Amino acid sequence: MPTLTVNGQSAEVAEETRLVQAIEDLGVSIGHRCGGQARCTTCRVSFLAGEPETWTKAEFTKLGLDKADTLAHDYRLSCQIVCAHDMVVEALMTLENQSWTDTGPAVSPQVQPEAQWYTRDEIARVVRGE
Ligand code: FES
Repeated sequence: MPTLTVNGQSAEVAEETRLVQAIEDLGVSIGHRCGGQARCTTCRVSFLAGEPETWTKAEFTKLGLDKADTLAHDYRLSCQIVCAHDMVVEALMTLENQSWTDTGPAVSPQVQPEAQWYTRDEIARVVRGE
């Protein structure tokens, strides 16, 4: 099973668990204000290690990378990532550092919208029509 480390806490997580859910299961109150639909970006994480090399189209476009000159990015959307290998992340928006009364509606076990994963080169071509 992959090991997830978030904000300094580590645990083994079931493979294919959505990252946002795995973070919450570790006791970190990460946001998921849109219910894991790639709309709100409150599930954002920065990767210290193990950043996936694939993207969903929804994540890529939500982060504006389809319109950017560069594929550089400050964070990823944990609702659009599954735990397939070891990862070290920081949850950037949590109940404790935002003025929320809750973290958002429960997320479904499967990535939504229904996901296909693309490599950086593939997604750039697919989304930008390159
Ligand atoms: S973008 Fe809203 S939970 Fe991920």
